[in-house]
Formats: sequence, C-alpha cells, structure tokens
Amino acid sequence: MTFDLVIKGGTVATASDTFAADVGVQNGIVTAIAKDLPDGAETIDASGKLVLPGAIESHCHIEQESSSGAMTSDDYLSGSVSALFGGNTTIIPFAAQQRGQSVHDVLALYRERAAKSVLDYSFHLIITDPTDTVLKEELPHAFAEGITSFKVFMTYDKMVVSDEMMLDILVTAREHGALTMTHAENNAMIKWMVKNLVAKGYKQAKYHAVSHPATAEVEAIHRGIRLANFVGAPLLIVHVSTDEGARLVSSARTDGHPIFGETCPQYLFLTKEDLDRPDPEGAKFICSPPLRDAKTQADLWRHLHAGNLQLWSSDHAPYRYGDSKLAAGPNPAFNQVANGMPGIEMRAPLLFSEGVLKGRLSLNRFVALTATNAAKIFGLHPRKGTIAVGSDADIAIWDPQETRTVTQAGMHDAMDYTPFEGMTITGWPVTVITRGRVAMSNGTLHAARGDGAFLKRDAFDWTGYSAALPPELTPETNFGAKLL
Ligand code: URP
Ligand code: ZN
Ligand code: ZN
Repeated sequence: MTFDLVIKGGTVATASDTFAADVGVQNGIVTAIAKDLPDGAETIDASGKLVLPGAIESHCHIEQESSSGAMTSDDYLSGSVSALFGGNTTIIPFAAQQRGQSVHDVLALYRERAAKSVLDYSFHLIITDPTDTVLKEELPHAFAEGITSFKVFMTYDKMVVSDEMMLDILVTAREHGALTMTHAENNAMIKWMVKNLVAKGYKQAKYHAVSHPATAEVEAIHRGIRLANFVGAPLLIVHVSTDEGARLVSSARTDGHPIFGETCPQYLFLTKEDLDRPDPEGAKFICSPPLRDAKTQADLWRHLHAGNLQLWSSDHAPYRYGDSKLAAGPNPAFNQVANGMPGIEMRAPLLFSEGVLKGRLSLNRFVALTATNAAKIFGLHPRKGTIAVGSDADIAIWDPQETRTVTQAGMHDAMDYTPFEGMTITGWPVTVITRGRVAMSNGTLHAARGDGAFLKRDAFDWTGYSAALPPELTPETNFGAKLL
C-alpha cells in the first residue's frame, strides 16, 4: 500500500478515544490507522504531538453585513486563513437574507464570496423574511442543495422574526430535515432598556451589558424551546451566555427533545468588566449577548464538562476598532457600536489551554466540542469531524507544550485588535492538513485562495429523538384537523 501522506508517531485523539497510531492518507482520505505504517510520499513526524480532527467552526460571520448593516472586516480569504491557523479545516458561516431578498439571490451572492475560501465550507441561511415563496419554494430548494440549517433572530429590528414566523420556519425545517438555529434574546426588553438608559445619559460601553439582561436571554431561550417543542422541530440555541439558559437546554434534552446549545470563548474568558475599560476601548468588547461575570464563567465551564452544551464556537463577528466599531464617532453610545468580536483563530487554542491543560475537560470532550459534535449536528459526519478510515484527511497536529502570548500581530485575520490580547496560551496547532494536503505548517501558509470546496450537508439526524407531534397538531387527537 502506498500512501500519499503518513503522519507518524503521534497520539491520535477522537471524541471517544486517545491512542498512539500512525495515520495513512490516500487521495485526501484517511485509509489506514495503525501502528508502524510505512513512510508515504510525504511523511510527517508527529512524535510528542497530538493528532486531532481538524476543527469545525460552525458559528462565524464572514463577508457578511451585520444586523446594523456594517460589513465584517474578514472576507472569505482572510477569515478562512485565520480559521486555518487556529486548527480549523471546515467553516460554516452565514448567508444572510436581507428583507425583500430572495434566498436564491442570497445563496448566489455567498457562493461567489466563498469561492475565495482556503477551507471547505457550507452556509447556514439566515432567514429574515419568511414569505410564502421563501417557505414553500426557496427553502426546499436550498435544502436540496445541501444547506440544511438556518438561523432566525429573536432580536435586532433588522433581523427579528415574530413567534408566528418562527413557527412557520420551524415547521418548514422539520418537514425537510433541517435544523433551525436561533439568537435568543427578548427584543422588547432590550429595546426598552436601551431607550431608557440612553435617554438618561448612560451611554458608555458598560451599559451595553446592562441593556441586555440575563433574563432577556433566558426568556427567549425558554420561548424558543417551547415553540420548537410545540411543532416537534429541532432547535439549536447559539451563544448561550447564562447558567439558566444552559439549564433550559439541558432540561429539554433530558425530556428527549432535539434541542442543542452552543457557547463561545468570550463568555468564559472575558467579563463585563472588560466593557468598563477607559472610553472608548470598551467598544471592542460589545457583542450580543453581552459579556457576563465570573460566576457565569464557572457555570459555563461546568455545563461544557457535563455535556449540557454541545458546541464551542467563536461567533467570530469581526468589526475593526479603528473604523467599524467607532464609525459613529470617537466616543459612540453603546447602541451605536457594531455588535461582535473576532475569535476564529483563538477558539480552539483557548479551550485547549484552559480546558484540557487545566483539567476542566478531557481531550476527547475538547475534540467533541470543537469538531465532532458540529459535524454530527450539521450533517457532515463522518466525512468531517473525526479521524477514521474513510473520513476526509482533515487533521490538525497540535504541540501541547508550545506556549505563546496572544497578540493581534500574531493573528491572521483582517482585524486591528483581539479581545484576548496578552493572554498566555499553551497548546497550538502547528500543522494543519486539509483533505490530505498540508495547508499550514509552523506558521507558514501553504493553502491557496479557492482551495476550499462547498460541502453538501446531510439532513438533520433524528436518531434517538421522537418525531411525534403534540396533540394539537395530530389529527387523531384534534378533531381530525390536519395542520401540517
Ligand atoms: O454580537 C454578535 N454576536 N454579533 C454577531 C451577530 C450575532 O448576533 O450573531
Ligand atoms: Zn447572535
Ligand atoms: Zn453570531
């Protein structure tokens, strides 16, 4: 057997096992995992290193107009390169529908934008305008193309959908085997807080956290889960930032519902105190949901350990400090600042350093949270998200001992700041392989613009979940009314 590539002498870890083995690759696919494989056309010595599935970044905003209309600083080239240096081999950014736009046009636009990606990619479709045509014709067409997840916003005036619209979208998703994702915050509570804070002159960045109270997230998570359960549809709550929110996800899962939860580095590594840096620097830390407190950080670590939250994503939403964040002036009110912060390159290293090396999470849980769970939830497994015979050879070789101080100069995105500046992180991806080709090694980029390919994803996997409808929607128990 002749291999194109052999990774020798490393410790392989998947979401379930850790073992010493060589990995052999042919035509971009893993074809052997065994002791003492012969050398390949190319052989990489991974002794002393960890051989992990390439991570999957399933929540990132790249070359996308935000809820306030600002364009992200990263396009598909810089965004995917930055992701690659952070150990990722697949990205799933958003293709965002503006109201009045057809889904067909949205996808055409994002396919053109994404053609620059160095990594394999798919899209989640953001739906802001669920017209009959969108629901009955365009979404089914998108599913047929392998786009099997979409997102709705429960807040932001430009994006928000009503509960009724959300029910329509959830039902359409259920019918076609798609997964709905939601940004869950109560729009009215936030708008009311913003209105009153700004009217009384409380405009500094720290009031952003005050204006997005934890209860606004908890209310919307509760409502989102109830809406999804009512129509028997799967739902992923993105960027959970509260203990109570994570408990709602966990409780719904315990009851057997296909509900999933995600959290992000900013909620475990930063706090609302960061928003109180001298004006206007706090603007760097404005994101929604907002940064919380030290207790919440500890709560979320526990939820990751317990498996109550299944995804660890960056929510990379890069708006440059110098131009974008301060676009409204040198000292903007918090509600005039673009929401979001960068983190696509730091997501996995942060979790490795503070999670695995500090004993909070096993290496296998780290792999699950950064790669395997996303592959399973978003219809990419087992092609992506694991190291197994037959899987794409998407592999990140990590040096678990390398220590670096985080600086923006060391990042590969198009940003002018990192919110994690100055942190000392141990454990970094040193070689990243995409479909059998070395895409990055020892800080040098080998991948080229356009190396990434569009991934057609599978339908949502219902295994283990009941697809039963509630009595109100079941003709046998509802006087024969057939609503779906
Ligand atoms: O503040 C954030 N997270 N901005 C990005 C858009 C979103 O809410 O997902
Ligand atoms: Zn969001
Ligand atoms: Zn987001």
